Amino acid sequence: MDLDDDTMGTVSAPGQIRRIKYAGPTTAQQGAYRSMSEPRQSPGTAGSPPPCPFDAFGFLSDPHPFLDQARAEAPVFQDPETGYWVVTRYDTIKAALGDPEAFSSANVLEPITPLDERVAEILEAGGFGAKPFIVNIDGADHKERKRIFTSVLHPRKVADFEPRIRQLARRMLADLPSGEPFDLVDGFSLDFPALVVFAFLGIPDSDVREIKRWADARMEVFFGDLSPDQQVEQAHGIAAFWRYIEDHIEGQLSDPGDHFVGDMVRLHLSGDEDVTLNDIANYCWSFLFAGHETTTAQITNMVRDMLAQRTAWEAVTADPQLIPGAVEESLRMNTSVFNWRRRTTADVELDGQSIPAGSDVFLVYGSANHDSDHFPDPDRFDPERDGLRRHLGLGYGAHFCVGAGLARLQLKIVLEEMTDMMPELALAPGRESRFIRNVGFCGPRTLWLTRGTAGN
Ligand code: HEM
Repeated sequence: MDLDDDTMGTVSAPGQIRRIKYAGPTTAQQGAYRSMSEPRQSPGTAGSPPPCPFDAFGFLSDPHPFLDQARAEAPVFQDPETGYWVVTRYDTIKAALGDPEAFSSANVLEPITPLDERVAEILEAGGFGAKPFIVNIDGADHKERKRIFTSVLHPRKVADFEPRIRQLARRMLADLPSGEPFDLVDGFSLDFPALVVFAFLGIPDSDVREIKRWADARMEVFFGDLSPDQQVEQAHGIAAFWRYIEDHIEGQLSDPGDHFVGDMVRLHLSGDEDVTLNDIANYCWSFLFAGHETTTAQITNMVRDMLAQRTAWEAVTADPQLIPGAVEESLRMNTSVFNWRRRTTADVELDGQSIPAGSDVFLVYGSANHDSDHFPDPDRFDPERDGLRRHLGLGYGAHFCVGAGLARLQLKIVLEEMTDMMPELALAPGRESRFIRNVGFCGPRTLWLTRGTAGN
């Protein structure tokens, strides 16, 4: 096992983001990515078709058969429906992430389906004030925001939270039913990571379901293909979500608590002009999506993948030392942030395809993680695989996940406690999982399991 082989552009300390300068293709990278000003290596055919019908909003419910074919036959293609270029190979995606000047993050939270004009009216009436903030900004502004985020999620602060996270996991897992099928998402993975983030932000636990509902509304409006009427319905949830955040911050003004929002409010009250109330709301807005929707889906993916390949579950149950490796392998096998966006700012060529400046691009991180040039036998869940941390499941380069430490800690605790408390856990036969149609996030919204007598 090679857990230390971390090629991910780590953000271990503010200002130390590793920028990988693309220095020309290695043998493995030939034809991967180059700027259009460099000599061409292979002729590009503009807009070659997908290898078989591609549904950008539906493929994440069963992505691998299609992506295996795409990597082999048409590693970069243009999706006729969304107009996005779809990039599927590891070297190409990593090279693009290593060049944030040519691959801007400006589009990553843009609505993928044009919004009905009533949506803007509802958001405006609700005082909606989200602005490009961290994941969707580039350059110096991004570095500064990231510095603050990184300090909030400093490894020491995260480590201090461990006992609290473990206690919460134990309590919630103990409440799962025994002897009858249960839905892991409803019973555990929906609420657990949200409650962890709430503790960071000082938000009451009792509001968890409402916030999860609003977060789903946000995902469906910005990443899904809702009809205009459905968009309008969900827009009310988004406006309510924003109002909730503003109310929470306002409630802190007279007596700031001992948590991130309280700290930020204290800075604001001390006259720090760099911390406006709108900035604080935007930090919360980012946290209250990136910080739990991702982890909800990743816990579910991890349990599903390990139970589907039961030898992996049994190996980890017998030897908990394998758990950190299993967490990385889960992020490789099916990362919840499976397909992410960028916009080209220069003419580029990717795997022989010419892509003009200003084009929208999908970088399919979950496909890179199944590229057999880097991960032999990629469909096998192997917690002892060499180079485990080379996956792109938490991104790479400038925008590498700022919550990686917190995410890894939660996944580790969940796996430790689950394998200890319910080694007999199994997939419930004959129950299909449900997925939300969207272009970015991979993770079932239902996962039926059994423990105790029903499963065995
Ligand atoms: C298993 C769970 C998680 C997964 C799979 C995940 C994945 C990712 C990925 C792939 C990116 C890079 C996006 C890009 O390339 O533009 C990212 C960025 C980010 N993540 Fe996570 N994440 C997880 C958990 C968390 C948590 C727990 C937090 C916060 C508490 C968080 C906060 C963020 C933020 C703020 C960014 C933007 C960083 C930047 O733009 O520099 N994530 N995450």
